[in-house]
Amino acid sequence: MKFNEGMLREGALKDKNILVTGGGTGLGRSMGEYFLQLGANLVITSRKIDVLQETAKEMMEKNGGKVIPVACDVRDIDQVEAMWEKAKSELGQIHVVLNNAAGNFISPTERLSTNAFNTVLDIVLKGTSQVTLTAGKDWIAHKQAGTFLNIVTTYAWTGSGYVVPSAAAKAGVLALTRSLAVEWAKYGIRSNAIAPGPFPTEGAWSRLLPGDLLKKFDPAKKVPVGRVGEHQELANIAAYLVSDFSAYVNGEVITIDGGEWLKGAGEFNNLDQIPQEMWDMMEVSRGKKP
Ligand code: HXC
Ligand code: NAP
Repeated sequence: MKFNEGMLREGALKDKNILVTGGGTGLGRSMGEYFLQLGANLVITSRKIDVLQETAKEMMEKNGGKVIPVACDVRDIDQVEAMWEKAKSELGQIHVVLNNAAGNFISPTERLSTNAFNTVLDIVLKGTSQVTLTAGKDWIAHKQAGTFLNIVTTYAWTGSGYVVPSAAAKAGVLALTRSLAVEWAKYGIRSNAIAPGPFPTEGAWSRLLPGDLLKKFDPAKKVPVGRVGEHQELANIAAYLVSDFSAYVNGEVITIDGGEWLKGAGEFNNLDQIPQEMWDMMEVSRGKKP
């Protein structure tokens, strides 16, 4: 067995209908593709219908199953409600919602226009809450169980300079996840989150590390295990959290970052840079025989 192989047994998501926002690209696409391999049917949604259609076609050619592309800007409640109705008319009951769509860019906060700040808040926090409310109200009204999985990031709890609207919005999504995990459990609705560290995707890396920044700030160097994540590793956790195997997991956020955020947090973690010879000298200077 290798860490980057599929983890769950065949058919683990059989007969589950799963909605993936931002499902045409990047991590949403990778998680969705693994769900499909495990027997689920998918609705993938985002703004760009041409991208969604191409992804759906490629996914079905490779894996079989059903992938329904539906255009929707999650910032617009009318589009969200129309997308939800379309998803149900295509697949019937939707069992799982993966809130993955996001927008982000790097900038000193004082350089952001009000509209720029609001754009990220609107996609990440308002978009997630609108999809969540639309699905949750429908599940409750029809006495159907359901599962939410929300993609946040580790700076949802640490905060981070230069991505402030994203940090504020992801913190909100984390609070939404934990709050509804308690409030809606009585309806058979579970809510969990995953906080990924760096995973290479065109969407995130071209915006967050544009041009030479990727060379100057190699993300792998900040990760104690010495590498960035592979998409299958994330897809494995996501598949577990949307499957019935995780029926007793509710309100949890699973971090998958190779130890990255803790490395930044621990007071003395930068002592990694001290060579062994210097530790030897320090031992001698406090009296230890060489
Ligand atoms: C500053 C910017 C900007 C930038 C746009 N704006 N890009 N400001 N720096 N790089 C400003 C615009 O000038 C405008 O303000 C406002 O933001 C809205 O811009 P639009 O282009 O009209 O917005 P829109 O077309 O809706 O696009 C949204 C977007 C875009 C967020 C700007 O990047 C996008 O579509 N992103 C989706 C994909 C994405 O970001 N993926 C990365 C997720 S990674 P004014 O005032 O001029 O009108 C992630 C976590 C990574 O979330 C964690 C890594 C460890
Ligand atoms: P990505 O490929 O850019 O994914 C973002 C997706 O969101 C795109 O498919 C985009 O599609 C969709 N989207 C953006 N605005 C939207 C809107 N208004 N309405 C509907 N959909 C919208 O980047 P990614 O790296 O895979 O990111 C996926 C998730 O992982 C995000 O939640 C991100 O915050 C999180 N994350 C990523 C990393 C990483 O290292 N990659 C780390 C931590 C967390 P359209 O453009 O077609 O709308």
